Amino acid sequence: MPLNLENMENSDLLFYPCSGGDWLSVFKLYSDRASSFVFSDLGYQFNKQKIAEFTSALLPNWLAQLDAIELVGPAVAFCKQVRTESASSYREIESACLRVNFYNRDTGRKVLVIWRRGFGQYALHELPDASVKIFCHRGDSSGDGGSNVFFFSNRIRRHAPLSKLYSTLKTKLMSRAFVVSDGSNASLRHLRNASEGKLAIGYELQIGELKWTLQSEVPWEHKSHYGRCYEWIVEASFGTQQVISDGYTTKARE
Ligand SMILES: C[S@@+](CC[C@H](N)C(=O)[O-])C[C@H]1O[C@@H](n2cnc3c(N)ncnc32)[C@H](O)[C@@H]1O
Repeated sequence: MPLNLENMENSDLLFYPCSGGDWLSVFKLYSDRASSFVFSDLGYQFNKQKIAEFTSALLPNWLAQLDAIELVGPAVAFCKQVRTESASSYREIESACLRVNFYNRDTGRKVLVIWRRGFGQYALHELPDASVKIFCHRGDSSGDGGSNVFFFSNRIRRHAPLSKLYSTLKTKLMSRAFVVSDGSNASLRHLRNASEGKLAIGYELQIGELKWTLQSEVPWEHKSHYGRCYEWIVEASFGTQQVISDGYTTKARE
């Protein structure tokens, strides 16, 4: 079920895969900096009661345009394990998207929020290239209910769309974008170092064609047992500082 991204060109998009219930905190933090939000999680359900919860969660300031709610795909679906002839298996789920326009009654600001049930890896592929202004991924893990999905890594998986997610992510970021991470499921060492409080605000490094600058700490609305969460500015740059390839092999640049 592809994301319906009509009318989202030129909008400031925030994408948060594996967002679970944390979507609300992130919406509150970034509602003034993004005009479209895509939250993606395998667990989202869109029966009447859940839709009412999604659309009323933003009250009192944000009012949903109730007559224009769009649900594409089955309201409810769960992951199934599918066995192949070669005795291996994979997970499958019927994806769906709930699309709601909100209006802020204090400021008049309008935003579009899409909740997508399904694999975050597919959601990433469906986004237009160079469309993501803010990429958020936090509070995740590789076990204990975590996704085991590594968006900041080029791990190879059996199924091509699930592989090399960092390369895909880079094509989706705007030329100047923001990455929000607490270092969870992150192979990029600087994301983990930041979450452990080892890097100062303003820290810069060049990785491949991207310059990363540590901008600010992002608060958690609820107490988290994860590391600290930080926002980075990530921009296309061919500077002459220390250059580190995506695989973190240090190379000096002439
Ligand atoms: C540990 S929870 C973290 C939720 C949220 N980020 C937070 O901080 O509260 C991991 C979430 O990822 C979702 N998930 C697992 N695999 C996923 C996938 N491949 N794509 C999208 N969501 C996934 C789970 O349903 C769960 O809600």
